[in-house]
Amino acid sequence: MNITDAETNKITETLESLEIEPINSGACGGEWIAALSGGEMESVNPADGKVIAKVQLAGAREYDQVVRQAEGAFAAWRMTPAPKRGEIVREIGDELRHSKAELGALVSIEMGKILAEGQGEVQEMIDIAEFAVGLSRQLYGLTMHSERPGHRMYEQWHPLGIAGVISAFNFPVAVWSWNAMIAAVCGDCVLWKPSSKTPLCAIAVQKICNRVFERHGVKGVFNLVIGREVGERMLEDRRIPLVSFTGSSQVGVHVAEVVGRRLGRTILELGGNNGIIVMDDANLDLVLRAVVFGAVGTAGQRCTTTRRLFLQRGIAERMTDALIAAYKQVKIGNPLDGATVMGPLVSRDAVADMLRGIETIQQQGGEILYGGRHLGGCFVEPALVRAKPGMPIVKEEIFAPILYLIEFDKLEDAIDQHNAVPQGLSSAMFTTNLVSAETFLSHRGSDCGIANINIGTSGAEIGGAFGGEKDTGGGREAGSDSWKAYMRRQTTTINWSAELPLAQGIQFQL
Ligand code: UN1
Repeated sequence: MNITDAETNKITETLESLEIEPINSGACGGEWIAALSGGEMESVNPADGKVIAKVQLAGAREYDQVVRQAEGAFAAWRMTPAPKRGEIVREIGDELRHSKAELGALVSIEMGKILAEGQGEVQEMIDIAEFAVGLSRQLYGLTMHSERPGHRMYEQWHPLGIAGVISAFNFPVAVWSWNAMIAAVCGDCVLWKPSSKTPLCAIAVQKICNRVFERHGVKGVFNLVIGREVGERMLEDRRIPLVSFTGSSQVGVHVAEVVGRRLGRTILELGGNNGIIVMDDANLDLVLRAVVFGAVGTAGQRCTTTRRLFLQRGIAERMTDALIAAYKQVKIGNPLDGATVMGPLVSRDAVADMLRGIETIQQQGGEILYGGRHLGGCFVEPALVRAKPGMPIVKEEIFAPILYLIEFDKLEDAIDQHNAVPQGLSSAMFTTNLVSAETFLSHRGSDCGIANINIGTSGAEIGGAFGGEKDTGGGREAGSDSWKAYMRRQTTTINWSAELPLAQGIQFQL
């Protein structure tokens, strides 16, 4: 795809305003480390295949230096009152607000999602920062009534230590911030290992946050390490009590095993295979818009992307025709062009995976109703597929814009088919019938971490806990009470009497 002069200028301006150099350090622990021992890598723009900038990589020595520094920073940060920590997070939110256009553009340039989505991602960062500020005064523990006279019981939440965050290319800044903003108000330090496909986004965010921390004379709360074996080191490292990982289910199992072996904690946000059930009584106009956004948005590379569409027989043909017509309208092109609806996939490898998937679909009897062709570079057409009942590939997550259409007659059958995949992240039903909706939301219904009515599977707000069941890993991030994963709980009993009664009525006399 050709990049216009205006787009080239926008890239240069974006990099300059975010202080991205031609060659950047990939390690910051309190301050940027200059000479790195882990080699070098290039960050490539998926829209034109050109190198955007280079990153020097951390080796074992720098990794250790950053973690040691973070341990020291934690000792001080945990002593800063939580609302004061919230104050700093509030200022980070303000800085992000000022940098929203540029940082959103960098997300588009480096990862390929369209400008509106790049900026939406920065908006998620701002939202979670604000959520975290409020939370900094609400890290509530419960109090309990003791069975012993003159005793009081309560639980309190203490900072945990260093929270490791391993983030994926598809949300190069937002998912880190769900973890980092919450961890920061909880009193933790954060060690970030971003995707090797999106290191520049991480460097830009680190620079923005450094400016705020510096104003407060605080160093090393947010740390960044980009390097080839950094992820593996974090998994093994006992100095990191919590690892929050976003990525494939396959790698997630490895993360759980390695961290589990040392009894560390994990937050796992793994694969999704999200379905929408459309009942005959649904408002089809809403369905069409939600499905196209859910399946084509971010070029099908969200964990929450709609991958399976269950259509009740009465509306199936009409919906299928409407979708084909809508897919023909999807404008594919440079993500920096305001008219583009779908940008490139993140890399050539991602394109190859999608094309392999399309081949397997055809071998298994799936019918390509529209799209699925390679358009050159990292660009593809989104695909609509009529699935053959029982096709095994429907159970897999292909991280690309492929949507399976599956017809059904009875609600119960649709729910059973919907749940018959290994993943359990997001789900939705479109209906105007109360009984259908409540059935879907009941314990007989969707088995996913997220279940929606009359809105799609993607685009969740930060206020709710985000994550899913089964092969999605069970972790929860962002809002609600997800913060508890970043703290350690301490149960406390205080005796204010002059006696020493034992629990369970035990008499123990000498
Ligand atoms: C992801 O794809 O890893 O709900 C996160 C959504 C976004 C987050 C997706 N708010 O689609």
